[in-house]
This record gives sequence, C-alpha cells and structure tokens, in this order.
Amino acid sequence: FDAVDVIRTKRDGGTLSDDQIAWIIDAYTRGVVADEQMSALAMAIFLRGMSDAETARWTQAMIDSGERMSFESLSKPTVDKHSTGGVGDKITLPLAPLVAVFDVAVPQLSGRGLGHTGGTLDKLESIPGWQADMSNETLLAQLEDLGAVICAAGSGLAPADKKLYALRDITATVDCLPLIASSIMSKKIAEGTSALVLDVKVGSGAFMKDEASARALAETMVRLGTAAGVDCTALLTDMSTPLGRTVGNALEVRESVEVLAGGGPADVVDLTVALAEEMLRMAGKPDADVRAALADGRAMDKWNQMIRAQGGDPEAALPQAAETEVVRAESAGVLTGLDALSVGVASWRLGAGRAKQGDELSLGAGIELHAKPGEAVTAGQPLMTLHADNPALFARAQEALAEAVEITPAAEGADAEAAAGSI
Ligand code: URA
Repeated sequence: FDAVDVIRTKRDGGTLSDDQIAWIIDAYTRGVVADEQMSALAMAIFLRGMSDAETARWTQAMIDSGERMSFESLSKPTVDKHSTGGVGDKITLPLAPLVAVFDVAVPQLSGRGLGHTGGTLDKLESIPGWQADMSNETLLAQLEDLGAVICAAGSGLAPADKKLYALRDITATVDCLPLIASSIMSKKIAEGTSALVLDVKVGSGAFMKDEASARALAETMVRLGTAAGVDCTALLTDMSTPLGRTVGNALEVRESVEVLAGGGPADVVDLTVALAEEMLRMAGKPDADVRAALADGRAMDKWNQMIRAQGGDPEAALPQAAETEVVRAESAGVLTGLDALSVGVASWRLGAGRAKQGDELSLGAGIELHAKPGEAVTAGQPLMTLHADNPALFARAQEALAEAVEITPAAEGADAEAAAGSI
C-alpha cells in the first residue's frame, strides 16, 4: 500500500477498502506513515465523510493498534458512561461512586481537557494527593473492592487514537462525525466494559450544535458498540448552557461534593440520577433508588473511599484562585440565555483549560454562575464570579463573555421564563 493512494481515494470521494484502512492505521501508529499524510487523510475524511462500514473498520483498526482489557474476572457487572464533552460537565465525579453503591463496577477511564471543555482527570487533580495513573492490576483490584475507579486511560489502549486525536486537534478535523465516533468507541470497546451509556451533548458548548447531528453521532456510536458486543445506549442532553453553577477544576469538584452530600444544583443532580438509573438498568438493577443513596450518605462514603484509594485527601482544602472579579447584570428581567461555549472559552482563558497538551492549569481558576437561564435577575446583581490567579486574564475572559448573556425584560420575561424552564 501507498499512503498517497489512500489519501487520493478519499480525496476523490471514493470508499476506502478494509485493507487500506487496516494498513494505514497500523502504519501510522508505527510511524511509517507521516503526520503530514495522516493530516491530509483526516481532512479528506472530514470533507468526504466515511460510510458506516468504513467507520466500523476504522474503529476496529484503532482497537487493534493496542491492548484490549477485560473485566470478566470481576464478580460484578461493569457499566461505563461517556460524555462527548461539555462546559461544567462534572457528572462523572458524583456518578461513578453513586452507581458503585449498588455493587456494580464503574471503570471511568478518563482524559484531560483540551480547548474549552474540561477533563475529568484535571478536575480530580485539584484534590491534594490524588493520582490519576494506575496499573491494570490495581484498577481491577479497586473495581472488585470498591466498584468505582476514575483514572487515566493507559497508553496501551487505542494508541492510534491518541496520536490521531492530537493531530486532529491542530488540523481543524476534530468535529467530524465518523472520526469522533470511532475515536470514542475504539477506546471504550478496547477497555472491555460490558455496558456503556453515552451522554451525547447538543448545543453551543458541544461538538454537535444541533439535535439532528447529535442524534446521528449517538446512533453511529451505539451501532459501533452493539456490533462489538457492548450493550450500548445514548441520551441526548442539553449543552446550550453550562451544567450546574461552576466551571473550572476545583470549583467543579466542590459542586460535585455538594451533589454527593445530597444538595447541589438541580440540573446536575437530575442528569446524574438519569445516567445512574440508565446504567443500573443495564446492569440488571432497574429498581435501585439512586436518589436515596445521594440523600443518605452512601454515595459520599463511596466517593471518600475512592479518593483515598488513589492517594487523595477528600477532607483537604481545594485550591482557590488568588483573584476574583464579578460580572453584573446590565438590566433587569429574566435570564433567557447564558451561552455554554462563551462561558467555556472564558473559563479556559482564566487558566482552567490549556492551549496545548502539557500546559499547566490553574486549578482554582474558573467561573461561578450566580444565575441560570429561567431565573429573574435585577439590574446590577452579580451574574458570575470569575476566578483567576493572574488578574491580567480577566479582560480576555470578559471579551469572551461579551455576547454570552441574554436578559429579556420582565414584561416579555414571563413567557421567556416559561420557555427557558421547559428546555
Ligand atoms: N472525545 C474523544 O475521545 N475523541 C473525539 O474525537 C472527540 C471527543
């Protein structure tokens, strides 16, 4: 095979053969195909697409590039959740211990954030002492013992994806349905979970901005999982506005702990409960009362055990940014819009996210939201508090927020409030 032929086939709108796909993924992983060539192919796929059969073959080739794990030795069923990524999406933190309360194993092999969406590992690393890296043996032992593990996906799982995702990130080829679906599902299938619930985000803060494309992504991923023997379902959930009232690593841990203590914002609690119920249904426990486990401290006990098992101190103070700045409402009325992407970009600019892989984060940086869409606001009331270690960052964050807030005057606001509340 010749990489140029493969690129030309896709560039001209043709279909890649099974052998071409298997060869190019393997050769790229081994460094025989150059980044320049893979970039050109990724762009050709971005522009021309891939059929279902090509996407399935591509996914299989990425799985075959590395090791496959197995949880079959465990005494309990495994069920995993994956979100396609959003702003303020800290759901994995309360969800994993909550589901594990019901004697189900929840392996959350997670990643770091890049761009405006945060990464689960970055959030947990704001807990003093907590370690993301874990050997496969320790992972299995912790799953058997506690049921819940959130850790870094080992470098052995789908190494082709690791290389390709970094390349896509710098060549404007991330937001491409077959490449997203194969990237996520290759890792999940290689991980070896028996069941998987996908939380596919829709809206400005998500890869998929409209419901039709989010649904298409969800259907493609469910098909890929099902064909590989993973019991797979998907929820489409809103990402037009941030989840909860905090965006940024330590701030999101604080809010997750509030949920585990039986409180927390309603949208975070509701989504955590909906995903937990779906996961437990798939694990054969449809009657589990997950709200009770949040209310009575069982989920919190599990969280504390999970954090301690990975070296963290759940009682320790979380990092706090050195400086704050308040953003106030310019008029009175009903908050009818608070744009997820703008808030995500602002939080990133405050130091909560990284511009390139390996950048240091400011773990206390981010944004607290004092009002959410559907709520009445008065002129001058605080809408958000920005947190940063370096006050020079506030101006650029404020620029990102310039169009983020939509307030509808009170007269029209009654209808708007009803509309916003029904999303
Ligand atoms: N998350 C992934 O793991 N891969 C993608 O391509 C997009 C989101």
